[in-house]
Parts: sequence; structure tokens; C-alpha cells
Amino acid sequence: MEKIGILTSGGDAPGMNAAIRAAVRAATSCGMAAVGYRDGYRGLLSNRAEELDDRTVGNILQRGGTMLGTSRCDDFLLAEARAAAASNLRDAGVGGLLVIGGDGSFRGALALASEHGVPVAGVPATIDNDVAGTEDTVGFDTAVNTAVLAIDQVRDTSESTGMMFFVEVMGRHSGMLALATGVAAGASGVLIPEARDELPQLVRRLRRSFELGKHSHIIVVAEGEEAGGAFAVAERIGKELDHPYRVVVLGHVQRGGRPTAHDRVLASEMGARAVLALASGRSGLMVAVRGARICEAPLGEGAQMAMAGHDLLALAQTLAG
Ligand code: F6P
Repeated sequence: MEKIGILTSGGDAPGMNAAIRAAVRAATSCGMAAVGYRDGYRGLLSNRAEELDDRTVGNILQRGGTMLGTSRCDDFLLAEARAAAASNLRDAGVGGLLVIGGDGSFRGALALASEHGVPVAGVPATIDNDVAGTEDTVGFDTAVNTAVLAIDQVRDTSESTGMMFFVEVMGRHSGMLALATGVAAGASGVLIPEARDELPQLVRRLRRSFELGKHSHIIVVAEGEEAGGAFAVAERIGKELDHPYRVVVLGHVQRGGRPTAHDRVLASEMGARAVLALASGRSGLMVAVRGARICEAPLGEGAQMAMAGHDLLALAQTLAG
């Protein structure tokens, strides 16, 4: 293989740049050239590509977002679009495609591989950590740290005023981010889309906790928990407990920012591993973390969404106090 293509797709995640840098430098170290497609699959369809070399990916390791741009490209769901993408890759002499993104992005890559024989590899990158088959995704650690920092600050006001705070974190379909944030920030409750019946139980726990004298409460709500998100949840709980509250929506604040050292290392290892796999002729794989070790896993597994584990939810409840 003489040339690889790289794209970032879906929601941006801190550490995507580190993965691009590692992929390009691994490629050049194997004597391969690299091109980056702008704005994910959209740029692949419109042939917006740029040559990448060791220098063009300099000074991006520490930056959030993605230097290549990203998009959610619905056109790629169409077979004709994928045929056009495969022909663009062939014409450009690109022998393998590295996709840095989440489960939806991997489904696109798998279709490209199965329909047109394009060798593909994936690096799981999403702040949601909801890619099946891997315990960690690039960007998750940074997003959790960002949310925890914000909650530590909100807690000062909660402690001082006695108001309950409902903090909405991202994760439309997954509670992973909410659970990790809740445990790390010492939340009184965590509401996630995977456990929609938890609310009455939480109200009971909060009532008891107020009776026992605890007067500061932070409740972490995953954005997908209920239509209306944290606002709807806060109104219900605030009314039932007849207690003043405020709502903080962290939103896209969690998506940006400098990647943590953990995410930089993870992205670097994953980016390089994925390119070395492509260079050795392997395809249809993603680089994954399993049992805290970096390994290769079938891309088909990563093309599915993972659900948050209820063991972490149980821990969050046990530690709520
Ligand atoms: O997939 C990452 C994510 O940030 C989710 O947590 C969130 O639900 C979604 O993307 C928001 O997407 P957008 O920025 O396209 O509104």
C-alpha cells in the first residue's frame, strides 16, 4: 500500500488530532503517503483532500477538535454515494481508509469495505464512550474531566445556598459520560437513558437525605434521559420535594478543549496501530481497549452502540450518601 486516506467523522472529540498525527507519522515511517479528507465522508464524496506529512500534523497534538473538520454525512447512507467514494479513493491511489469516529462512522466504513473492497480500519473516538467492543474511546476522559471540573465549581454554590443543581451532560443515547461524571464528582444521583425508571427511587433517596441533614445535592442528568432533558427532570423533582433548584446544561463545552494526557496517549497508540494494521494488509478492524490493553477487534463490533453498565449506576447510588 502506497497511500492511506484519513478522515474524522461524527461529533468531534478531544484527541482526534492526536490520532491524525500518529496515523500520519506511522504511515510515513512505513514509507506510505497520507491524505486527509475534509469534513468526514462529506469531503470524501466531494474529493476535498489534502496531503498530510510529518510537518503538516505538527503542533496539533494538544489541540481539541479536529484539523480535518468533521460532519454527520447522511448522504453516505446511500449506496450510490459509497460507490462514488470508492471510485474517488481508487482514482487518488488511496489503498486504505482510516476512519476516526464512532459507531455510525464505522457502519459507513464497513459498507465501503463490503461493497467495494476498500480496506478500512477504525479508531473509536467519541466523548460518549458508547462504541461496542472497546472499553474506552478517544475523547471520553477529557469530556469527563471537563464535566467534573464544572460540577466542582457548581457544588460551591450548591453548598452555600442549599439549592439542588441538575447538571445535564452529553450522551443522547448513552449514560456512560453521565455515570463516570457522577461517580467522579460525587453526585447525589445520576439519571441515564438506559435506566429510565430510576426517577421515583431518586426522589425517595433525596427526600431521605434532606431529612438526614444533607443540604447540598448535585444530580447529573444525561441529555437523552427524558424529553426536555435536565429541565424536565428538575421541574418534576423540584416540585415533588418542594425545594429550590437550578439547571446547568454543559452541552458542547464538553466536546472541546485540550485533550487530557490519557486521551493523547490513547489516540496516539490507536492511530498508529490502525495504520500499521492497514499497512500489513489487514482490514475491517478497529483498534480497541480490552482488559485495559490496546488490541485489534472486528470493526463490526464497533459499528454497534454500547449501553452503560448498571454496575456503575449501582456504585453511583451506593456512594451518593
Ligand atoms: O456523539 C457525541 C455527541 O456530543 C453526543 O454526546 C451528543 O448527543 C451529540 O453528539 C450532539 O450532536 P450535535 O453536535 O450534532 O448536536
